[in-house]
Amino acid sequence: MYIVFEGIDGAGKATQIQLLKEWLEANGLEVETVVEPTGSDVGKLIRKILTQPNATEDTMQKTLGLLFAADRLILMDKINNAGNKVILSDRSFISSLAYQEPQDWIKEINKFACEPDLLLLIDLDVKKSVDRCSGEDEFENEEFLNNVKQNYLDLVKNYNYAIIDGNNGVNKVSSDIKKAVATLVGLCPSCIE
Ligand code: TYD
Repeated sequence: MYIVFEGIDGAGKATQIQLLKEWLEANGLEVETVVEPTGSDVGKLIRKILTQPNATEDTMQKTLGLLFAADRLILMDKINNAGNKVILSDRSFISSLAYQEPQDWIKEINKFACEPDLLLLIDLDVKKSVDRCSGEDEFENEEFLNNVKQNYLDLVKNYNYAIIDGNNGVNKVSSDIKKAVATLVGLCPSCIE
């Protein structure tokens, strides 16, 4: 099973993935986490480019689109061969659809990417996102993130999804996520506080 977390920068994906992992494991499920960009050489190159001033420019965004697509192919076998394991992923090709453009081309270059069984969108106010981020990456600015946030809200409808309000405290966000995931993994949603 492949569960994908998406959201603008600073939405709290990493914290929530860890909390969900602990809960699923406590309930007897086998869990593996993956992160995009990966720790591969391609992923390292991506992280370097993200800090450069031209990262949001059109040509560099297209270059990044290709690099993100190449980087995620590294995860493909792991996800396809998950078996009974639950794979929790920090981002996916849906990030590329939200952050890069044009969408039809992004779809084309990601046609081998895995579709999620469940997409969890942690939706956060852009002002909060900017406050939470270090500002080190060029994408972490208000105008850019407003556009990404709207793209996400339009995109989710194409998948099996849940929108989680990321403006709440960590524990409330975590229990909302558990409720959204429970039935899918065979656990009881009404047992969650
Ligand atoms: P990262 O520092 O990991 O951000 P976060 O912790 O918020 O996930 O950097 C990932 C950045 O790359 C983030 O700004 C989103 C962006 N990104 C894309 O633009 N396209 C993609 O396909 C992916 C996977 C990430």
